[in-house]
Amino acid sequence: MTDYKRVLVTAALPYANGPIHIGHLAGCYIPADIYVRYQRAQKRDVIFVGGSDEHGVPITIRAMKEGVSPQEIVDKYHELIKHSFQQMGISFDIYSRTTSPVHHKTASDFFKKLYDDGIFEEKETEQYYDEKTHTFLADRYITGTCPVCGNDGAYGDQCEKCGSSLSPDQLINPRSTLSDAIPVKRKTKHWYFPLQKYEDFLRKWILEGHTEWKNNVYGQCKSWLDNGLQSRAMTRDSNWGIKVPLPDAEGKVLYVWFDAPIGYISATKELTDKWADYWCKEDTKLVHFIGKDNIVFHCIIFPAMLKAHGNFVLPDNVPANEFLNIEGDKVSTSRNWAVWVHEYIKDFPGCEDVLRYVLCANAPENKDNDFTWKDFQDRNNNELAAIFGNFVNRTFVLMHKLCGGKVPKLHTDILDDLDRQLIADIEAAKAKVENALEGFRFRDALYEVIDLSRKGNKYMQEKEPWQVVKKVAENPEAQKSIDNCLHLCLQLTANLAILINPFLPATAKKMLHMMKVVDRILDWENAGKINLLSVGYALRAPEILFRKIEDAEIQAQIEKLRAGSVAAEAAQKVAVATPVSSTPAVKPVIQYDDFAKLDLRTGTIVAAEKVEKADKLLKLEIDLGFEKRTIVSGIAQHYDPATIVGKRVVVVANLAPRKMRGIESNGMILMAEDADGSLQFIASDKEVQNGSIVS
Ligand code: 2FM
Ligand code: ZN
Repeated sequence: MTDYKRVLVTAALPYANGPIHIGHLAGCYIPADIYVRYQRAQKRDVIFVGGSDEHGVPITIRAMKEGVSPQEIVDKYHELIKHSFQQMGISFDIYSRTTSPVHHKTASDFFKKLYDDGIFEEKETEQYYDEKTHTFLADRYITGTCPVCGNDGAYGDQCEKCGSSLSPDQLINPRSTLSDAIPVKRKTKHWYFPLQKYEDFLRKWILEGHTEWKNNVYGQCKSWLDNGLQSRAMTRDSNWGIKVPLPDAEGKVLYVWFDAPIGYISATKELTDKWADYWCKEDTKLVHFIGKDNIVFHCIIFPAMLKAHGNFVLPDNVPANEFLNIEGDKVSTSRNWAVWVHEYIKDFPGCEDVLRYVLCANAPENKDNDFTWKDFQDRNNNELAAIFGNFVNRTFVLMHKLCGGKVPKLHTDILDDLDRQLIADIEAAKAKVENALEGFRFRDALYEVIDLSRKGNKYMQEKEPWQVVKKVAENPEAQKSIDNCLHLCLQLTANLAILINPFLPATAKKMLHMMKVVDRILDWENAGKINLLSVGYALRAPEILFRKIEDAEIQAQIEKLRAGSVAAEAAQKVAVATPVSSTPAVKPVIQYDDFAKLDLRTGTIVAAEKVEKADKLLKLEIDLGFEKRTIVSGIAQHYDPATIVGKRVVVVANLAPRKMRGIESNGMILMAEDADGSLQFIASDKEVQNGSIVS
């Protein structure tokens, strides 16, 4: 029974900081897609929104690692992720991104409304700051030694080696990952959302009102609420994100977990003018599909934000899954212990449904689960191919052989117990699958579909039409038994197409093609019927639905996984030897006009001497061809003046004059700072005339 008019389904917005792996699919995208396809088959008003999460520390860290801008990172991975979803049949109605203008405005307005309503607390606190790169450091940007296990590469929020959750203050020898500098504490102001004020509402709404939520979700919420909620900063110091829409907020952006869930609303706005029907009318059923690490954000923080804002519906359910491990080990992107979806698609073309099947049949619905390649092969070969595929194939082959390629008649006068049992099984399957899907028990639902095909095989085995045919010559009535068997097996095949469609849409499509029927037959109301294919209707030849997966293919994947993680470990060792500190974060983007204001020229140092009472300064005489200049430069601790006369340099020739130690400096020479802090001159490798323009 439904007491709602429309269904709004969201799936977590993945960070666009890398490709997606099968853990992402198993965690939320496959269950969400199954649910949505089922709702569509029920002809309910449903929309499915998603998109990339393109702000926050994960993006800036990736940009730093790849030495490119955050924008380039999100552009690259958004496309890759979107393509992987399309290939895997994840049927979003819209797949947007949080860098979209609609989202920036929506999130900004949301923040402003809470601000205007006096919801936020303004607080000044001390936070770690990197004086070398002039940046406040998010916890992830600080590394040091883990106080628990001694790991040298622990982060300010977590040690990935022992899993301890940390705060930067706990790290031994903290260092900035941007510059390797020792971070210092500095005051900074932020806007905090007072979660504790929503505790009573959340307790009532979840602990009393949503006892039907999955145990893992309900349990996590209860533990958060029992531990007491605290104010949480909803802004950050960063130059990547949605600017805080307040006058005194230079250099501040919205916290990524403030803006990201609002991304569901923005995506809906981009999809339809009727977005407010979905978000604001009480008869909407809002369902958030997520992984377990997102539970607090979707069940506590976002609902509290929605409540504070007013006028929005709250989630009806948040069926979060646990984690999927791989070959007995936790997925780790840094250790490259993952099965990447875009690589799977390349390695197993046309087998997208197989992955959907395995990830659903083995979904971590109530506890963490393990994906192994051997299990993948077994499930394909022994379940999909040997049970489901085999049943459909046998039915079609025998129908062509024994019934002239047409749907045979059902002779109701000779129905026996086996026939009647099969009909009852077909009718019962609908309710079983439906109940499981409505209750977010996707594994059970899929099991019921496969079980129905297993029953079909058993029925066929007991009916033995290939034996019965031998009796037809002496007893023409025997053909009736063959007809009944194949008629029912064909109706069962049509039912299987309907029931498997939410799970394996490409397979259902192939089955429709074989049966020469239109998509409409997949409407859920048709499940359980045994009159879906008309008597006398000619059907196509069978297609193999699932090919066998060979041992060699599985072996190759296992080797690839191991080799990938060995390579990642080696790369990490090199990275530790050359800390990321050598490449500070790229500054905010400038326009060409900004750059064009600089007048850079080549020159030669013709004289150099120490500046009195200044340890760091040298007074340089630079020949710029058209004139000689005096420039005071802070390189005294790196170069002996005697050794640099004759060096070719690049000079910022139009820098405003500045007095240092009483000497007027007319420009600046460009130097590159190495990872170890040493300074190198920048010059062309061939001699160019002094005064040449550098552009
Ligand atoms: O954990 C993550 O990958 C987050 N990017 C999920 C965000 S979900 C939503 F709130 F946008
Ligand atoms: Zn540790």
